[in-house]
Amino acid sequence: MKGVILAGGSGTRLHPLTKVISKQLLPVYDKPMIYYPLTTLILAGVQEVLVITRPEDAQSFKALLGDGSDLGIAISYAEQEKPVGLAQAPLIAESFLNGEGFCLILGDNFLYGSGLGRKLQNLDAVQGATIFAYRVSDPTAYGVIELDSVGRPVSIEEKPKVPKSDLAIPGLYFFDKDIVEICRNLKPSPRGELEITDAIKEYMAQGKLSVEVLPLGTAWLDMGSFESLLEAGEFVHIVQSRQGILIGDPITAMRARNKSS
Ligand code: DAU
Repeated sequence: MKGVILAGGSGTRLHPLTKVISKQLLPVYDKPMIYYPLTTLILAGVQEVLVITRPEDAQSFKALLGDGSDLGIAISYAEQEKPVGLAQAPLIAESFLNGEGFCLILGDNFLYGSGLGRKLQNLDAVQGATIFAYRVSDPTAYGVIELDSVGRPVSIEEKPKVPKSDLAIPGLYFFDKDIVEICRNLKPSPRGELEITDAIKEYMAQGKLSVEVLPLGTAWLDMGSFESLLEAGEFVHIVQSRQGILIGDPITAMRARNKSS
């Protein structure tokens, strides 16, 4: 399976930390932020990764991650000229995708939980789109999904002031090949961005959207604010030192993947 990490954006919520360094290169305890979404892709069984960055950061990401050969995967790079929205990612990735479905992860999303890799590996041959839902106390900063009594999606809103549910949509998405055409036809939202939630709404309208509610005990953080950046670092520190394991380490993840296959 192919995977795309969207690691551009202006990172203004983290100024001055991100004035001269890309957000996704900031340290999260003992690793650069991008290691965490990369590890999620590795656990999901991804073989080919495209990393999308700002033009001015491309060299740093290449120096950090290389071509992936030391991990046994292929890593390539593309640039996003301006942060016009998440839904530009499939368009930038079009030639990399070459008509195949893929997994998209946001470069600031941290996911950790027992059995997560196995769950993601089963989504390999996805038809339509599969997204996740995660219960949070305040969903207003996220895409929010409402489900009916049998778990079917009913509504999706981006950063609603009055959310219809407490289910946030994490930045991890599985799309089939149709995503490119869907994103090509999107118009900017009232806040001026090409919204990935608008693309997901199109899958919902076509009856091709699956939603998996992440189980209690799964950790999901977007590391885009000072608080969540610190919380992610603390989480990694506490679990690593208590259990003597490494979280968000691509080499460890690859060993685990090879063992289980
Ligand atoms: O974290 C999950 C949330 O991510 C979802 O619940 C929302 O539906 C989704 O819109 C997104 O919301 P954010 O407000 O967190 O998005 P943000 O603008 O912070 O961008 C997320 C990541 O994508 C961040 O690492 C920067 C990068 N990015 C963002 C934009 C707008 C790009 O690389 N290019 C872009 O054009």
